Amino acid sequence: RRAVLLGGAAAGAAGFAPSALGRMPLSRDTLPRSAPVRHLALAAAEMEVALLGPDKPKTKGFCAYNGTPFLTLRAPQGTRLMVDFDNRLPDYTTVHWHGVRVPYLSDGVSPLTQAAIPAGGRFTYDVPLPDPGFYFFHPHCDETGQVGRGLVGLIFVDDPAEAKLGFDLDHIIAVKDWRLDESGGWLPMFTDEGASTAGTFGTVRATNGQVVPPRVEAPAHGDVRLRVIVADSTRTIDFGCETDEAAIIAIDGQALPPLLLSKLPDEIWRMGPAMRIDVHVRMPGPGEEVKVYDYRTAEPYLLTTLVAVDKGRRKTPFKPKALPAARVPLPDMKRATRLEYLVQTAAGPTIIAPALPADDPLAKALIESACVGSKAFWAINRNSWGAGADLRLPPPLQILKDGESYILSITNVTKHVHPMHLHGHVFRVLSSSKKTGIPPYLADTVMTEPNETVEIAFRANSGDWVFHCHILEHMDSGLMGWFRVV
Ligand code: C2O
Ligand code: CU
Repeated sequence: RRAVLLGGAAAGAAGFAPSALGRMPLSRDTLPRSAPVRHLALAAAEMEVALLGPDKPKTKGFCAYNGTPFLTLRAPQGTRLMVDFDNRLPDYTTVHWHGVRVPYLSDGVSPLTQAAIPAGGRFTYDVPLPDPGFYFFHPHCDETGQVGRGLVGLIFVDDPAEAKLGFDLDHIIAVKDWRLDESGGWLPMFTDEGASTAGTFGTVRATNGQVVPPRVEAPAHGDVRLRVIVADSTRTIDFGCETDEAAIIAIDGQALPPLLLSKLPDEIWRMGPAMRIDVHVRMPGPGEEVKVYDYRTAEPYLLTTLVAVDKGRRKTPFKPKALPAARVPLPDMKRATRLEYLVQTAAGPTIIAPALPADDPLAKALIESACVGSKAFWAINRNSWGAGADLRLPPPLQILKDGESYILSITNVTKHVHPMHLHGHVFRVLSSSKKTGIPPYLADTVMTEPNETVEIAFRANSGDWVFHCHILEHMDSGLMGWFRVV
């Protein structure tokens, strides 16, 4: 299957010659073979959930891992998860471990790193957890549809050194809308109108799956660690808190010297789909509250209320807690090679027309298992993923050298925001042409605004790695490329 897709031979159209790619990359491990192993049975399946709230019709066809919406995994740094994955969905799927430095053969990108897993199929993922932090996992096949219907899990990799920081509460805020009609039925997740613009938004907003913003109790004058993720397919938020005593202490799971929210422009942090932050919030006095908002919408949307309850903490001056420094491989800036990429609109929507008749079962299987959309609205340096007259992959954006350092200069020349994600690496965000005054930080997804150029740098790690927008309809309509690192 892989050969057919790579060569584009079935369609006979202009693909690239696989021989031009040279040898296959190594699938490098980021943990020693002696690392402790944990076995995990993971199944994706549909279920019925009350998404619209109590006393409202339930929603069928919700997708979850192990029957648990937002299934949360927790493991100590240095553990290897061996995941026996079982696809009990009626469709093809894969699992991608977002932000985790896995061997590329466990990266879950069909058809690049594996064939899509058919209904009833299984796959074993080798998921080393070399870096502490906050990650997540999701399908990388019909992502718009499956993530839209709930298929997201969270991973916390704990560093034992963090225990002495003494947080009173570790609390998740997962931002994810639901796209439902009034009777709880799913509306189409992919629309041409949305995919070619800012994306198709949900009809109901929710935090942690609930339409009523949660109220969470924490000790008065205590210290809360919020783990905030935009797990939505489309929505970008402006995260802010109604207090001056709050600081970002990690971005995409990677520690950074605390950034006081009150010192940031507009006192917010903009987060697109897939982006995460850890925030240290100091609780006020007994009975008082801290409201946490998305300020991007005309009317601020309340994400969560933290309620201070009296547990007898002493009031002390607020000093943001710094997490132990991140340990990911860092780029060598003196030797880095610079590459430039434009995030653009495609010349025009292209229908992917398989050479085989569309009703041919093989053509159907190829389209489904290739996990691509049928139209391309977006491109990176004029290449659209899965677009063109056949089922070929686009040629790689660039062939990189293992261990070498690169700077990607990414310019968004469209009218919409694009949170860009690079697989297999944690990169350093060096600069932005629009947002100044933010010191470089580590991340796996970076926001690009219209007419903005951002620069990121990383040390290349052997593998085939995709680079794409995390607004899922954009990714499914062309906004994805890949790097081969050998
Ligand atoms: Cu979470 Cu390819 O992405
Ligand atoms: Cu985008």
